[in-house]
This record gives sequence, structure tokens and C-alpha cells, in this order.
Amino acid sequence: ELNACLFDLDGVIVDTAKFHYIAWRELANGLGFDLTEKQNEKLKGVSRVESLEIILKIGNVNLDPETKAKLAATKNDRYLELCQKMTPDDILPGVQVFLDSLIQEKIKIGLGSASKNARLILDYIGLTHYFATIVDGNRINKGKPDPETFLLGAEDLDVNPQNCIVFEDAVAGIQAAKAGGMVAVGIGSSAELNAANADLVIPGFQDIDVNTIKHLF
Ligand code: BG6
Ligand code: MG
Repeated sequence: ELNACLFDLDGVIVDTAKFHYIAWRELANGLGFDLTEKQNEKLKGVSRVESLEIILKIGNVNLDPETKAKLAATKNDRYLELCQKMTPDDILPGVQVFLDSLIQEKIKIGLGSASKNARLILDYIGLTHYFATIVDGNRINKGKPDPETFLLGAEDLDVNPQNCIVFEDAVAGIQAAKAGGMVAVGIGSSAELNAANADLVIPGFQDIDVNTIKHLF
């Protein structure tokens, strides 16, 4: 039985994934190497600090903690600069209609994002009021693929994890949902989402309605 839907933010509700990629790629270029789209896939759903570690490994660069902290801050400044122009027009197709239909069906709605900027982004796009709980990068100790993000969300909403559907664009996020005993729906087209055991993979929210997802139980 479906009681709640937990949404990732970046790449699911809004296409901020492209801004994260631009900002990380600029950082890599500044250090003298490139970051391919394929390598970028590994950063999705992963925290800022962990992403930087992965990138430095790709470029074979060793840095002291102080420099790393500075680079992470610079990346975030650049990311936020790119996000500044965001408006409700940037909500991905079908998302708001889908959220409205969940409200109509009295299905609870939560956010489960690794981002420390999640509230700010939700405010930019005007969707904050839909979410009965927001679990973001400021609240969690263990990031995806650990299930903590989504388990906290389920707890906040007072629902069993088995009665939740998680919507995710990242392999780490699908893994987190499955580790938490939830139904996982992948958003996107990557074969990696299927390989990570998503229960369903769809290109976007235009392709589903509440009835389709109720059948996943
Ligand atoms: C995730 C993104 O949602 O949040 C990652 O997929 C990002 O790319 C992570 O690194 C942390 O985000 P932020 O905004 O705190 O740097
Ligand atoms: Mg994401």
C-alpha cells in the first residue's frame, strides 16, 4: 500500500544536475584536467565533500584539507550563482501536476536530498509548501547509498518504509531506497538505474500518474 512519496531534488524535481556538473567541471579544469559526463554520473546524489574527493582522485591531485575546504566553497558559490536565475519555470515537466495529484489522494510527500541548498532551491521554484518534511544535507550523518536520508523522511511522515516510493535520478539514491526497504523509481534513461535494481525507470513525471505507481505494491 502506498502511503508516502519521497523525492530527491537535484535531477528529479529540477534540473540542477546540469549546474552541479558545470561548477564541478570548471573546478576540475582549473586543476588541469577534465570531468566527463560519464564521470559526473558518479557524483549524482553524493555530498559536496565526497564529490570533491572523487574528482581529486580522477585528476590524481593531492591537496591539504584547507585547500579542499576552499575549493568546495568556491564550487558552491559558483553553483549558487548558476541557480540564482531559477524560477518555477525550471520545475521539470509533469512534477507539479504529479504533486497535486498526490495531495488529492492524501498521499504524504517528503524531500530526501543530499544537498545543503535544498530549501533554497525549493524556495526559488516555489514548491516548498508541498513538502511535509524536508531531509537535506544538513540533517544527515550518512549520505546515499546509506538509507538514512529516506528512513528519516519516512519517520518524519510517520509511515513504514515499505509503504514509501522513492523517486531518484542517481544510482546512489536508488541503492539508498532499496537498502531502506522502499520501492524505488528511477528518473532518467541510464541503464545504470536498472542495474541498481530500480523497480521502475521512467524518463519523467509526464509518463506516470498515481494509479501507475500504486501498482508497484
Ligand atoms: C545532490 C546532488 O542532490 O546534492 C549532488 O546530486 C550534490 O550533485 C549533493 O553534490 C550536495 O549538494 P550541495 O548543494 O550541498 O553541494
Ligand atoms: Mg539527484
